[in-house]
Amino acid sequence: MSATKSIRLRCWLVYSVLVGFALSSSFLIAQTVQISVDVSQTGPKIDRNLFGQFAEHLGYGIYGGIWVGPDSPIPNTRGIRNDVVGALKAIHVPNVRWPGGCFADEYHWRNGIGPKREVTLNPNWGGVIEPNTFGTHEFMDFIDQIGSEAYVSVNLGSGTVKEGADWLEYMTAAQATTLEQERAANGHPAPYKVALLGLGNESWDCGGNMTPEYYLDRMKVFTHFVRNYNPAQQDRDQMQKIAVGPGGGDQRWTDWTETVMKAYGQHTWSWGISGLSMHNYTVVKWPPAFKSFGFGEDEYAQILKATLEMDDLIKKHSAIMDKYDPRKKVALIVDEWGAWYAPLPGSHQGFLVQQNSLRDAILAALNLNIFARHADRVRGANIAQMINVLQAMILTEKEKMVLTPTYHVFKMYVPFQDSTFIPVTFNAGTYKHGEFTLPRVDAIAAKGKDGELWVEITNVDPNQSAEIELSLAGINAKSASGETLTAPKIDSINTFDAPNTVVPKPISALVRGGKLTLKVEPKSVTVISVEQ
Ligand code: AHR
Repeated sequence: MSATKSIRLRCWLVYSVLVGFALSSSFLIAQTVQISVDVSQTGPKIDRNLFGQFAEHLGYGIYGGIWVGPDSPIPNTRGIRNDVVGALKAIHVPNVRWPGGCFADEYHWRNGIGPKREVTLNPNWGGVIEPNTFGTHEFMDFIDQIGSEAYVSVNLGSGTVKEGADWLEYMTAAQATTLEQERAANGHPAPYKVALLGLGNESWDCGGNMTPEYYLDRMKVFTHFVRNYNPAQQDRDQMQKIAVGPGGGDQRWTDWTETVMKAYGQHTWSWGISGLSMHNYTVVKWPPAFKSFGFGEDEYAQILKATLEMDDLIKKHSAIMDKYDPRKKVALIVDEWGAWYAPLPGSHQGFLVQQNSLRDAILAALNLNIFARHADRVRGANIAQMINVLQAMILTEKEKMVLTPTYHVFKMYVPFQDSTFIPVTFNAGTYKHGEFTLPRVDAIAAKGKDGELWVEITNVDPNQSAEIELSLAGINAKSASGETLTAPKIDSINTFDAPNTVVPKPISALVRGGKLTLKVEPKSVTVISVEQ
Protein backbone atom coordinates (compact mmCIF):
# COMPACT_ATOMS: atom_id res chain seq x y z
CA MET A 1 0.00 0.00 0.00
CA SER A 2 1.35 3.45 -0.95
CA ALA A 3 1.97 6.02 1.81
CA THR A 4 -0.84 8.27 0.43
CA LYS A 5 -3.33 5.37 0.43
CA SER A 6 -2.36 4.41 3.97
CA ILE A 7 -2.84 8.03 5.16
CA ARG A 8 -6.25 8.17 3.37
CA LEU A 9 -7.30 4.90 5.00
CA ARG A 10 -6.25 6.13 8.44
CA CYS A 11 -8.11 9.41 7.88
CA TRP A 12 -11.19 7.44 6.85
CA LEU A 13 -10.96 5.28 9.97
CA VAL A 14 -10.58 8.33 12.24
CA TYR A 15 -13.51 10.02 10.43
CA SER A 16 -15.70 6.92 10.83
CA VAL A 17 -14.90 6.62 14.52
CA LEU A 18 -15.67 10.33 15.03
CA VAL A 19 -18.93 10.12 13.10
CA GLY A 20 -19.89 6.96 14.97
CA PHE A 21 -19.11 8.64 18.28
CA ALA A 22 -21.05 11.75 17.32
CA LEU A 23 -24.04 9.66 16.24
CA SER A 24 -24.09 7.55 19.38
CA SER A 25 -23.74 10.57 21.65
CA SER A 26 -26.40 12.48 19.72
CA PHE A 27 -28.61 9.49 20.44
CA LEU A 28 -28.00 10.26 24.11
CA ILE A 29 -28.59 14.01 23.74
CA ALA A 30 -32.34 14.26 23.41
CA GLN A 31 -34.20 17.00 21.59
CA THR A 32 -35.04 20.19 23.45
CA VAL A 33 -38.60 20.10 24.76
CA GLN A 34 -40.56 23.20 23.74
CA ILE A 35 -43.32 24.08 26.19
CA SER A 36 -45.66 27.00 25.46
CA VAL A 37 -47.72 28.70 28.11
CA ASP A 38 -50.10 31.56 27.42
CA VAL A 39 -51.16 33.03 30.73
CA SER A 40 -54.19 34.75 29.18
CA GLN A 41 -55.72 31.32 28.39
CA THR A 42 -57.12 30.15 31.70
CA GLY A 43 -59.08 26.99 32.43
CA PRO A 44 -60.97 25.58 35.41
CA LYS A 45 -59.97 25.67 39.06
CA ILE A 46 -57.67 22.85 40.17
CA ASP A 47 -59.67 21.95 43.26
CA ARG A 48 -57.58 21.51 46.39
CA ASN A 49 -59.56 18.33 47.03
CA LEU A 50 -57.55 16.67 44.23
CA PHE A 51 -54.80 16.37 46.85
CA GLY A 52 -56.96 14.48 49.36
CA GLN A 53 -55.80 11.56 51.49
CA PHE A 54 -57.34 8.27 52.52
CA ALA A 55 -56.93 6.69 55.97
CA GLU A 56 -58.57 3.32 56.51
CA HIS A 57 -58.56 1.07 59.56
CA LEU A 58 -56.08 -1.22 57.84
CA GLY A 59 -52.74 -2.50 59.10
CA TYR A 60 -50.75 0.35 60.65
CA GLY A 61 -52.62 3.09 58.79
CA ILE A 62 -54.46 4.31 61.89
CA TYR A 63 -53.06 2.37 64.83
CA GLY A 64 -49.34 3.13 65.02
CA GLY A 65 -49.46 5.55 62.09
CA ILE A 66 -51.78 8.19 63.58
CA TRP A 67 -52.97 6.90 66.91
CA VAL A 68 -50.56 5.85 69.63
CA GLY A 69 -52.79 6.68 72.61
CA PRO A 70 -52.31 9.41 75.22
CA ASP A 71 -50.08 7.22 77.44
CA SER A 72 -47.58 6.42 74.68
CA PRO A 73 -43.93 7.47 75.10
CA ILE A 74 -44.17 8.64 71.45
CA PRO A 75 -44.85 12.41 71.64
CA ASN A 76 -48.56 12.91 71.03
CA THR A 77 -51.46 15.27 71.54
CA ARG A 78 -54.49 13.47 72.96
CA GLY A 79 -53.14 10.20 71.53
CA ILE A 80 -52.30 11.52 68.04
CA ARG A 81 -48.64 11.47 66.93
CA ASN A 82 -47.09 14.96 66.88
CA ASP A 83 -44.48 14.08 64.23
CA VAL A 84 -47.14 12.84 61.80
CA VAL A 85 -49.35 15.87 62.44
CA GLY A 86 -46.40 18.22 61.78
CA ALA A 87 -45.55 16.48 58.50
CA LEU A 88 -49.16 16.45 57.27
CA LYS A 89 -49.73 20.11 58.08
CA ALA A 90 -46.91 20.95 55.68
CA ILE A 91 -48.70 19.31 52.74
CA HIS A 92 -52.00 21.13 53.40
CA VAL A 93 -54.16 18.00 53.29
CA PRO A 94 -57.55 19.26 52.06
CA ASN A 95 -59.58 16.27 53.25
CA VAL A 96 -59.13 12.81 54.72
CA ARG A 97 -61.41 9.96 53.69
CA TRP A 98 -62.23 7.71 56.71
CA PRO A 99 -62.91 5.03 58.06
CA GLY A 100 -62.56 3.04 54.81
CA GLY A 101 -62.51 1.50 52.16
CA CYS A 102 -63.98 -1.93 52.67
CA PHE A 103 -63.80 -1.30 56.42
CA ALA A 104 -66.43 1.45 56.13
CA ASP A 105 -69.20 -0.94 55.10
CA GLU A 106 -68.65 -2.94 58.30
CA TYR A 107 -68.05 0.01 60.59
CA HIS A 108 -70.57 0.70 63.32
CA TRP A 109 -69.91 4.16 64.69
CA ARG A 110 -71.33 3.52 68.15
CA ASN A 111 -68.45 1.10 68.82
CA GLY A 112 -66.06 4.04 68.61
CA ILE A 113 -67.56 6.69 70.91
CA GLY A 114 -67.73 7.24 74.65
CA PRO A 115 -65.58 6.09 77.53
CA LYS A 116 -66.05 2.35 76.90
CA ARG A 117 -65.21 1.11 73.40
CA GLU A 118 -66.40 -2.16 71.89
CA VAL A 119 -63.61 -4.48 70.79
CA THR A 120 -64.48 -5.93 67.38
CA LEU A 121 -62.72 -7.56 64.44
CA ASN A 122 -61.43 -6.29 61.11
CA PRO A 123 -62.37 -9.15 58.76
CA ASN A 124 -61.26 -7.38 55.59
CA TRP A 125 -57.72 -6.68 56.70
CA GLY A 126 -56.15 -9.68 58.38
CA GLY A 127 -59.02 -10.48 60.75
CA VAL A 128 -57.20 -8.63 63.52
CA ILE A 129 -58.67 -7.02 66.63
CA GLU A 130 -60.23 -3.58 66.10
CA PRO A 131 -60.06 -1.81 69.47
CA ASN A 132 -62.20 1.12 68.30
CA THR A 133 -60.03 3.46 70.39
CA PHE A 134 -59.80 5.68 67.30
CA GLY A 135 -63.41 6.66 66.60
CA THR A 136 -65.40 9.71 65.55
CA HIS A 137 -63.99 12.15 68.13
CA GLU A 138 -60.39 11.03 67.60
CA PHE A 139 -60.76 11.32 63.82
CA MET A 140 -62.24 14.80 64.09
CA ASP A 141 -59.49 15.82 66.53
CA PHE A 142 -56.88 14.52 64.05
CA ILE A 143 -58.52 16.44 61.18
CA ASP A 144 -58.49 19.57 63.30
CA GLN A 145 -54.85 19.12 64.31
CA ILE A 146 -53.68 18.81 60.69
CA GLY A 147 -55.98 21.60 59.47
CA SER A 148 -58.03 19.42 57.13
CA GLU A 149 -61.65 18.45 56.49
CA ALA A 150 -63.61 15.26 57.06
CA TYR A 151 -64.67 12.94 54.25
CA VAL A 152 -66.71 10.39 56.17
CA SER A 153 -67.81 7.17 54.47
CA VAL A 154 -71.09 5.95 55.84
CA ASN A 155 -71.89 2.24 56.17
CA LEU A 156 -74.33 1.49 53.35
CA GLY A 157 -73.37 -2.20 53.15
CA SER A 158 -74.04 -3.78 56.54
CA GLY A 159 -75.47 -0.69 58.25
CA THR A 160 -79.00 0.64 58.25
CA VAL A 161 -80.26 3.99 57.04
CA LYS A 162 -81.16 4.83 60.63
CA GLU A 163 -77.63 4.04 61.81
CA GLY A 164 -76.22 6.38 59.18
CA ALA A 165 -78.79 9.09 59.91
CA ASP A 166 -78.04 8.88 63.65
CA TRP A 167 -74.29 9.16 63.05
CA LEU A 168 -74.75 12.33 61.02
CA GLU A 169 -77.11 13.77 63.62
CA TYR A 170 -74.59 12.86 66.35
CA MET A 171 -71.81 14.63 64.49
CA THR A 172 -73.60 17.68 63.15
CA ALA A 173 -76.68 18.60 65.22
CA ALA A 174 -76.58 21.94 67.02
CA GLN A 175 -79.97 21.71 68.73
CA ALA A 176 -80.35 19.86 72.02
CA THR A 177 -81.35 16.44 70.71
CA THR A 178 -80.43 13.33 72.66
CA LEU A 179 -77.64 12.56 70.19
CA GLU A 180 -76.33 16.13 70.32
CA GLN A 181 -76.27 15.92 74.13
CA GLU A 182 -74.42 12.62 73.95
CA ARG A 183 -71.77 14.21 71.69
CA ALA A 184 -71.43 17.11 74.11
CA ALA A 185 -71.11 14.70 77.04
CA ASN A 186 -68.37 12.94 75.08
CA GLY A 187 -66.43 16.19 74.94
CA HIS A 188 -67.56 18.12 71.86
CA PRO A 189 -70.49 20.50 72.35
CA ALA A 190 -70.00 22.25 68.99
CA PRO A 191 -71.24 20.46 65.87
CA TYR A 192 -68.60 18.90 63.67
CA LYS A 193 -68.25 19.81 60.01
CA VAL A 194 -68.59 16.89 57.62
CA ALA A 195 -67.41 18.28 54.28
CA LEU A 196 -67.93 15.12 52.22
CA LEU A 197 -70.06 12.04 52.77
CA GLY A 198 -69.29 8.77 50.98
CA LEU A 199 -72.44 6.73 50.33
CA GLY A 200 -70.87 3.29 50.72
CA ASN A 201 -67.64 1.97 49.26
CA GLU A 202 -67.18 -0.34 46.27
CA SER A 203 -70.76 -1.53 46.69
CA TRP A 204 -70.17 -3.68 43.60
CA ASP A 205 -67.62 -5.75 45.56
CA CYS A 206 -66.56 -5.63 49.23
CA GLY A 207 -69.37 -3.14 49.93
CA GLY A 208 -72.08 -5.76 49.36
CA ASN A 209 -71.79 -7.12 45.81
CA MET A 210 -74.79 -5.08 44.70
CA THR A 211 -76.13 -4.64 41.21
CA PRO A 212 -76.14 -1.01 40.05
CA GLU A 213 -79.94 -0.96 40.27
CA TYR A 214 -80.00 -2.26 43.84
CA TYR A 215 -77.27 0.17 44.85
CA LEU A 216 -79.11 3.05 43.24
CA ASP A 217 -82.31 2.33 45.21
CA ARG A 218 -80.41 2.08 48.46
CA MET A 219 -78.22 5.08 47.78
CA LYS A 220 -81.25 7.30 47.04
CA VAL A 221 -82.70 6.48 50.45
CA PHE A 222 -79.40 7.31 52.16
CA THR A 223 -79.06 10.64 50.33
CA HIS A 224 -82.50 11.64 51.59
CA PHE A 225 -82.36 10.54 55.22
CA VAL A 226 -78.69 10.82 56.18
CA ARG A 227 -78.79 14.54 56.80
CA ASN A 228 -76.23 17.08 57.85
CA TYR A 229 -77.65 19.44 60.53
CA ASN A 230 -74.64 21.69 61.02
CA PRO A 231 -76.06 25.26 60.80
CA ALA A 232 -72.88 26.43 59.07
CA GLN A 233 -73.41 23.91 56.27
CA GLN A 234 -76.99 24.67 55.27
CA ASP A 235 -76.67 27.43 52.68
CA ARG A 236 -72.97 27.72 52.00
CA ASP A 237 -70.42 24.97 52.42
CA GLN A 238 -72.99 22.22 51.98
CA MET A 239 -71.89 18.63 52.53
CA GLN A 240 -71.02 16.89 49.25
CA LYS A 241 -72.63 13.47 48.88
CA ILE A 242 -70.49 11.05 46.91
CA ALA A 243 -72.10 7.98 45.33
CA VAL A 244 -70.18 4.80 44.59
CA GLY A 245 -68.98 4.80 41.01
CA PRO A 246 -66.86 2.60 38.75
CA GLY A 247 -63.76 0.57 39.53
CA GLY A 248 -62.48 0.12 35.97
CA GLY A 249 -63.22 0.58 32.30
CA ASP A 250 -65.07 -2.61 31.29
CA GLN A 251 -68.75 -2.73 30.47
CA ARG A 252 -69.57 -3.72 34.01
CA TRP A 253 -68.24 -0.32 35.10
CA THR A 254 -69.64 1.76 32.28
CA ASP A 255 -73.06 0.19 33.06
CA TRP A 256 -72.65 1.27 36.68
CA THR A 257 -71.87 4.87 35.75
CA GLU A 258 -74.69 4.85 33.20
CA THR A 259 -77.23 3.60 35.76
CA VAL A 260 -76.33 6.11 38.46
CA MET A 261 -75.94 9.08 36.12
CA LYS A 262 -79.10 8.32 34.12
CA ALA A 263 -81.06 8.34 37.37
CA TYR A 264 -79.33 11.55 38.41
CA GLY A 265 -80.38 13.12 35.11
CA GLN A 266 -84.00 12.66 36.19
CA HIS A 267 -83.62 13.19 39.91
CA THR A 268 -86.25 14.95 41.98
CA TRP A 269 -85.94 17.30 44.99
CA SER A 270 -85.86 14.41 47.43
CA TRP A 271 -82.54 12.94 46.47
CA GLY A 272 -79.31 14.04 44.88
CA ILE A 273 -75.58 13.56 44.72
CA SER A 274 -72.72 15.96 44.22
CA GLY A 275 -70.09 13.45 43.22
CA LEU A 276 -69.48 10.02 41.74
CA SER A 277 -66.54 8.09 43.08
CA MET A 278 -64.04 6.20 40.91
CA HIS A 279 -61.36 3.77 42.11
CA ASN A 280 -58.33 2.98 40.00
CA TYR A 281 -55.12 1.48 41.29
CA THR A 282 -51.94 0.96 39.27
CA VAL A 283 -51.55 -2.79 39.76
CA VAL A 284 -50.75 -4.47 36.39
CA LYS A 285 -50.97 -8.01 37.87
CA TRP A 286 -53.54 -9.21 40.38
CA PRO A 287 -52.81 -10.22 43.09
CA PRO A 288 -50.24 -7.43 43.19
CA ALA A 289 -46.88 -8.93 42.30
CA PHE A 290 -44.61 -6.05 41.37
CA LYS A 291 -41.91 -5.18 43.87
CA SER A 292 -42.06 -1.74 45.48
CA PHE A 293 -38.25 -1.48 45.35
CA GLY A 294 -35.42 -3.65 44.05
CA PHE A 295 -36.88 -3.52 40.51
CA GLY A 296 -35.35 -2.76 37.12
CA GLU A 297 -36.16 -0.53 34.18
CA ASP A 298 -38.70 -3.03 32.75
CA GLU A 299 -40.91 -2.70 35.82
CA TYR A 300 -40.29 1.06 35.91
CA ALA A 301 -41.52 1.51 32.35
CA GLN A 302 -44.39 -0.97 32.69
CA ILE A 303 -45.82 0.56 35.87
CA LEU A 304 -45.59 4.12 34.58
CA LYS A 305 -47.21 3.14 31.30
CA ALA A 306 -50.02 1.44 33.21
CA THR A 307 -50.59 4.46 35.43
CA LEU A 308 -51.27 6.63 32.37
CA GLU A 309 -54.43 4.56 31.76
CA MET A 310 -56.03 6.82 34.36
CA ASP A 311 -56.50 9.37 31.60
CA ASP A 312 -58.59 7.08 29.37
CA LEU A 313 -60.62 5.89 32.30
CA ILE A 314 -61.52 9.44 33.29
CA LYS A 315 -62.41 10.25 29.67
CA LYS A 316 -64.60 7.16 29.39
CA HIS A 317 -66.64 7.85 32.52
CA SER A 318 -66.71 11.62 31.98
CA ALA A 319 -68.28 11.02 28.57
CA ILE A 320 -71.13 9.07 30.19
CA MET A 321 -71.52 11.73 32.86
CA ASP A 322 -71.63 14.44 30.17
CA LYS A 323 -74.68 12.76 28.61
CA TYR A 324 -76.77 13.18 31.75
CA ASP A 325 -75.00 16.10 33.41
CA PRO A 326 -73.65 18.36 30.65
CA ARG A 327 -73.19 21.23 33.10
CA LYS A 328 -70.81 19.06 35.12
CA LYS A 329 -72.60 19.57 38.40
CA VAL A 330 -71.62 16.10 39.60
CA ALA A 331 -67.89 15.81 40.24
CA LEU A 332 -65.89 12.70 39.46
CA ILE A 333 -64.01 11.93 42.66
CA VAL A 334 -61.11 9.49 42.24
CA ASP A 335 -61.18 8.64 45.92
CA GLU A 336 -58.84 5.64 45.72
CA TRP A 337 -55.78 5.75 43.47
CA GLY A 338 -52.09 4.93 43.62
CA ALA A 339 -49.64 2.09 43.14
CA TRP A 340 -50.48 -1.28 44.66
CA TYR A 341 -47.45 -3.58 44.85
CA ALA A 342 -46.67 -6.92 46.50
CA PRO A 343 -46.58 -6.70 50.30
CA LEU A 344 -43.07 -6.36 51.71
CA PRO A 345 -41.55 -9.76 52.52
CA GLY A 346 -42.13 -10.61 56.17
CA SER A 347 -44.99 -8.14 56.55
CA HIS A 348 -48.57 -9.18 57.36
CA GLN A 349 -50.12 -9.91 53.95
CA GLY A 350 -53.38 -8.24 54.95
CA PHE A 351 -51.69 -5.00 55.99
CA LEU A 352 -50.69 -3.86 52.47
CA VAL A 353 -47.25 -2.62 53.53
CA GLN A 354 -45.04 -1.50 50.64
CA GLN A 355 -42.04 0.74 50.08
CA ASN A 356 -42.24 3.98 48.16
CA SER A 357 -39.57 4.81 45.61
CA LEU A 358 -38.67 7.55 43.16
CA ARG A 359 -40.88 5.71 40.65
CA ASP A 360 -43.86 6.44 42.92
CA ALA A 361 -42.99 10.12 42.99
CA ILE A 362 -43.13 10.18 39.20
CA LEU A 363 -46.31 8.10 39.19
CA ALA A 364 -47.92 10.56 41.62
CA ALA A 365 -46.95 13.56 39.48
CA LEU A 366 -48.32 11.93 36.30
CA ASN A 367 -51.66 11.22 37.98
CA LEU A 368 -51.95 14.66 39.58
CA ASN A 369 -51.32 16.16 36.14
CA ILE A 370 -54.03 13.99 34.60
CA PHE A 371 -56.48 15.12 37.31
CA ALA A 372 -55.51 18.76 36.71
CA ARG A 373 -56.15 18.40 32.96
CA HIS A 374 -59.65 17.10 33.77
CA ALA A 375 -60.24 19.64 36.54
CA ASP A 376 -63.60 20.68 35.11
CA ARG A 377 -65.01 17.23 36.02
CA VAL A 378 -62.46 15.72 38.40
CA ARG A 379 -62.80 17.81 41.54
CA GLY A 380 -61.54 15.38 44.13
CA ALA A 381 -59.06 12.52 44.51
CA ASN A 382 -57.71 10.61 47.48
CA ILE A 383 -54.43 8.75 47.22
CA ALA A 384 -54.41 5.34 48.91
CA GLN A 385 -53.34 5.52 51.62
CA MET A 386 -51.91 8.24 53.84
CA ILE A 387 -49.68 6.34 56.29
CA ASN A 388 -48.07 2.87 56.21
CA VAL A 389 -50.51 1.45 53.64
CA LEU A 390 -50.01 1.17 49.84
CA GLN A 391 -48.64 4.40 48.26
CA ALA A 392 -48.16 6.21 51.53
CA MET A 393 -46.96 9.72 52.32
CA ILE A 394 -45.42 8.61 55.59
CA LEU A 395 -43.96 5.40 56.97
CA THR A 396 -43.64 4.84 60.72
CA GLU A 397 -42.14 2.17 62.93
CA LYS A 398 -42.70 2.69 66.62
CA GLU A 399 -41.22 6.17 67.35
CA LYS A 400 -39.55 6.48 63.93
CA MET A 401 -41.05 8.30 60.96
CA VAL A 402 -39.87 8.81 57.39
CA LEU A 403 -41.34 10.91 54.58
CA THR A 404 -41.67 9.10 51.26
CA PRO A 405 -40.87 10.40 47.75
CA THR A 406 -44.65 10.65 47.20
CA TYR A 407 -44.91 12.95 50.23
CA HIS A 408 -42.39 15.30 48.66
CA VAL A 409 -44.40 15.47 45.43
CA PHE A 410 -47.54 16.39 47.37
CA LYS A 411 -45.56 19.11 49.15
CA MET A 412 -44.15 20.47 45.89
CA TYR A 413 -47.69 20.59 44.43
CA VAL A 414 -49.18 22.66 47.29
CA PRO A 415 -49.19 25.83 45.11
CA PHE A 416 -51.52 24.02 42.68
CA GLN A 417 -54.23 23.69 45.33
CA ASP A 418 -57.18 25.89 44.26
CA SER A 419 -55.06 27.36 41.47
CA THR A 420 -56.39 28.14 37.99
CA PHE A 421 -55.39 25.71 35.26
CA ILE A 422 -53.49 27.19 32.32
CA PRO A 423 -53.31 25.01 29.19
CA VAL A 424 -49.79 24.17 27.99
CA THR A 425 -48.68 22.75 24.67
CA PHE A 426 -45.49 20.75 24.36
CA ASN A 427 -43.73 18.15 22.28
CA ALA A 428 -43.51 15.36 24.83
CA GLY A 429 -41.18 13.16 22.79
CA THR A 430 -40.99 9.48 23.64
CA TYR A 431 -39.25 7.33 26.18
CA LYS A 432 -38.97 3.77 24.89
CA HIS A 433 -37.82 0.78 26.84
CA GLY A 434 -38.28 -2.67 25.31
CA GLU A 435 -41.93 -3.05 24.39
CA PHE A 436 -42.98 0.01 26.43
CA THR A 437 -43.27 3.44 24.85
CA LEU A 438 -44.35 6.41 26.95
CA PRO A 439 -44.38 10.17 26.60
CA ARG A 440 -40.95 11.29 27.74
CA VAL A 441 -42.00 14.54 29.38
CA ASP A 442 -45.19 15.76 31.01
CA ALA A 443 -46.08 19.28 32.11
CA ILE A 444 -48.85 21.40 33.59
CA ALA A 445 -49.14 25.09 34.44
CA ALA A 446 -51.44 27.08 36.69
CA LYS A 447 -51.94 30.48 38.20
CA GLY A 448 -51.68 30.03 41.95
CA LYS A 449 -53.85 31.66 44.58
CA ASP A 450 -50.73 33.78 45.22
CA GLY A 451 -51.05 35.16 41.66
CA GLU A 452 -47.82 33.47 40.56
CA LEU A 453 -47.41 31.27 37.51
CA TRP A 454 -46.50 27.72 38.55
CA VAL A 455 -45.16 25.13 36.12
CA GLU A 456 -44.58 21.43 36.73
CA ILE A 457 -42.34 19.31 34.51
CA THR A 458 -41.92 15.55 34.86
CA ASN A 459 -39.08 13.84 33.05
CA VAL A 460 -40.09 10.18 32.83
CA ASP A 461 -36.94 9.13 31.00
CA PRO A 462 -34.61 7.51 33.54
CA ASN A 463 -31.52 7.84 31.32
CA GLN A 464 -31.58 11.28 29.76
CA SER A 465 -31.97 14.75 31.13
CA ALA A 466 -34.32 17.06 29.26
CA GLU A 467 -33.50 20.55 28.02
CA ILE A 468 -36.66 22.59 28.45
CA GLU A 469 -37.43 25.75 26.56
CA LEU A 470 -40.52 27.40 27.96
CA SER A 471 -42.18 30.12 25.86
CA LEU A 472 -44.18 32.44 28.05
CA ALA A 473 -46.88 34.68 26.61
CA GLY A 474 -48.92 37.17 28.61
CA ILE A 475 -46.32 37.52 31.35
CA ASN A 476 -43.18 39.57 31.67
CA ALA A 477 -41.03 36.78 33.10
CA LYS A 478 -37.74 37.71 34.75
CA SER A 479 -36.60 34.54 36.46
CA ALA A 480 -37.88 31.26 37.76
CA SER A 481 -37.03 29.07 40.70
CA GLY A 482 -38.39 26.10 42.53
CA GLU A 483 -37.57 22.55 43.47
CA THR A 484 -36.66 19.36 41.68
CA LEU A 485 -36.96 15.81 42.97
CA THR A 486 -34.76 12.99 41.72
CA ALA A 487 -32.42 10.37 43.16
CA PRO A 488 -29.56 8.13 42.07
CA LYS A 489 -31.80 5.19 41.07
CA ILE A 490 -35.32 4.61 39.80
CA ASP A 491 -35.98 2.54 42.92
CA SER A 492 -34.23 4.85 45.40
CA ILE A 493 -36.19 5.04 48.64
CA ASN A 494 -36.05 6.93 51.93
CA THR A 495 -35.49 4.78 55.00
CA PHE A 496 -35.47 5.48 58.74
CA ASP A 497 -31.67 5.34 58.60
CA ALA A 498 -31.26 7.27 55.33
CA PRO A 499 -34.30 9.56 55.14
CA ASN A 500 -32.86 12.06 52.63
CA THR A 501 -32.07 9.93 49.58
CA VAL A 502 -35.10 11.24 47.69
CA VAL A 503 -35.68 14.84 48.73
CA PRO A 504 -36.29 17.96 46.63
CA LYS A 505 -33.42 20.30 45.83
CA PRO A 506 -33.56 23.93 44.72
CA ILE A 507 -33.52 24.68 41.00
CA SER A 508 -33.51 27.96 39.09
CA ALA A 509 -33.93 28.91 35.47
CA LEU A 510 -32.84 31.67 33.15
CA VAL A 511 -35.30 33.84 31.23
CA ARG A 512 -34.18 35.55 28.04
CA GLY A 513 -36.44 37.21 25.48
CA GLY A 514 -39.57 35.73 27.05
CA LYS A 515 -38.08 32.20 26.95
CA LEU A 516 -37.13 30.27 29.99
CA THR A 517 -34.56 27.52 29.70
CA LEU A 518 -33.75 24.85 32.19
CA LYS A 519 -32.41 21.34 32.24
CA VAL A 520 -34.33 18.75 34.22
CA GLU A 521 -32.62 15.60 35.44
CA PRO A 522 -33.55 12.13 34.24
CA LYS A 523 -36.45 10.57 36.26
CA SER A 524 -37.40 13.79 37.98
CA VAL A 525 -40.31 15.94 39.09
CA THR A 526 -39.79 19.72 38.99
CA VAL A 527 -42.04 22.55 40.15
CA ILE A 528 -41.04 26.16 39.49
CA SER A 529 -42.67 29.52 39.91
CA VAL A 530 -42.06 32.23 37.35
CA GLU A 531 -41.24 35.60 38.82
CA GLN A 532 -42.33 38.74 36.97
O1 AHR B 1 -57.24 0.63 49.78
C1 AHR B 1 -57.44 -0.72 50.03
C2 AHR B 1 -58.79 -1.21 49.56
O2 AHR B 1 -58.87 -1.13 48.17
C3 AHR B 1 -60.00 -0.45 50.03
O3 AHR B 1 -60.41 -0.81 51.30
C4 AHR B 1 -61.03 -0.82 49.00
O4 AHR B 1 -62.00 0.17 48.84
C5 AHR B 1 -60.22 -1.06 47.76
O5 AHR B 1 -60.55 -2.22 47.13
